[in-house]
Amino acid sequence: MTLSQLPPPLLRWYRASARDLPWRRTRDPYRIWVSEIMLQQTRVAAVLGYYARFLEAFPTVEALASAPEDQLMKLWEGLGYYSRARNLQRAARLVTDRGGFPDTYQGLLELPGVGDYTAAAVASAAFARREAAVDGNVLRVVTRLTDDHSDIAAPQTKKNFRALVQEIFPEAEPDVRVFNQALMELGATVCVPNGPPKCLLCPVREWCLGRAQGTAEGLPVKAPKKTRRVEEKTVFLLLRDSRVALRKRPASGLLAGLWEFPNVEGALDESAAAGAVRSWGLEPRAWRNRLTAKHIFTHVEWRMTCYTLETAGQGPPDFTWVNSLERHAVPSAFARCREEAERALRE
Ligand code: ADE
Repeated sequence: MTLSQLPPPLLRWYRASARDLPWRRTRDPYRIWVSEIMLQQTRVAAVLGYYARFLEAFPTVEALASAPEDQLMKLWEGLGYYSRARNLQRAARLVTDRGGFPDTYQGLLELPGVGDYTAAAVASAAFARREAAVDGNVLRVVTRLTDDHSDIAAPQTKKNFRALVQEIFPEAEPDVRVFNQALMELGATVCVPNGPPKCLLCPVREWCLGRAQGTAEGLPVKAPKKTRRVEEKTVFLLLRDSRVALRKRPASGLLAGLWEFPNVEGALDESAAAGAVRSWGLEPRAWRNRLTAKHIFTHVEWRMTCYTLETAGQGPPDFTWVNSLERHAVPSAFARCREEAERALRE
C-alpha cells in the first residue's frame, strides 16, 4: 500500500463508526486539552467519569487557573500521575495570563505537560492545524499497514512515522480536525494490541501489507529496554603534602583519556580499602571521610564509595599528584568526589 490511499476510507469509517466521546463533540481547546492530558497513560473508560466531574467543577480555563489545590487534587484522586494535574493548573495560569490558548503546535508545546503528541492532537482538533499526533495506537496502525519492522522504542522511528503521517494528512478543514482521532480510533478499536487485530472490521484491510504478509499481529517491533549494568567502585581521594592523586584513564573505552581518582572494583570496607592503598605502595595515615555517590551512563551505572585519606609513600608511576584540579579534565561521573577533593585541598 502507499499510505496515501489511507485517508478517504479511514475518514469514512470514522464518521460512520467511531465511539461518541465527549471531547469529540467540541472544538473548545480547553476541553480538548484537558481530555488529552487525562488520556495520557490512562484508558478512555477510566477517564470518562473524571472528565465530566472535572469540567463541571472547572468549566473554563480561568476556573482551573484559580482552583484551590485541594479541590484540584481531590478531583484527580485515583487517576494517577498527579504531576499531570499540577501541570494542568500551571498551564491554565499561563493561558489565562496570555489571554488565550496558543493556537499552533509550537505554541502549545510550550505549555507544561504538553509534549509532541498532545500538542499535535490539540492543534489539529481545536485549531484545524495539519499536525500528525503519533501515539502508540498510531504507530501500531502504521507499522502494520506498511509491514515496517523498525524498533518503535527508538526515537527516530517515531520521527519517521510522524513525517510519514504528516505527508498524507488531509487538507479539508473538517478532515484535518478528525484525522488524528481516526487513526487513533482504528488503533484502539480495530487494529488492537495484545491479540489478533480485527481485520474483518478494518476499512483499509485490502491495502494492509502486514495483513497480506501475515505479520500484523507481531507488529510493531519494540526492543526491550536494555537493563543497565551496575558497577560498584571504591574511589580514593589520596592526599599527600596538600596534593591529591589522579591518574589517566585508558585511551579507549568509557571516558577514554580523561583523568580520574584512583579506584578499584567493588564496594570495599575500610580495612579492604587500606589493603588496596598499600598495594599501590602507599601507607594510610588518617582516614578523613567516606561518602557514596552514583552516576548513570547509558549502559552502566556506577555506585561509588569514596574514601578521603592522608597517605605517605611514593605511589605508582602513573599517579600524578596535583594541588589543584583546575588543569585536569575529571569527568562529571566523579563530580561528588571532586567536590570533596577540592574541599580537602583547601583545608
Ligand atoms: N487516547 C489519547 N487521545 C485520545 C482521544 N482523543 N480519543 C480516544 N483515545 C485517546
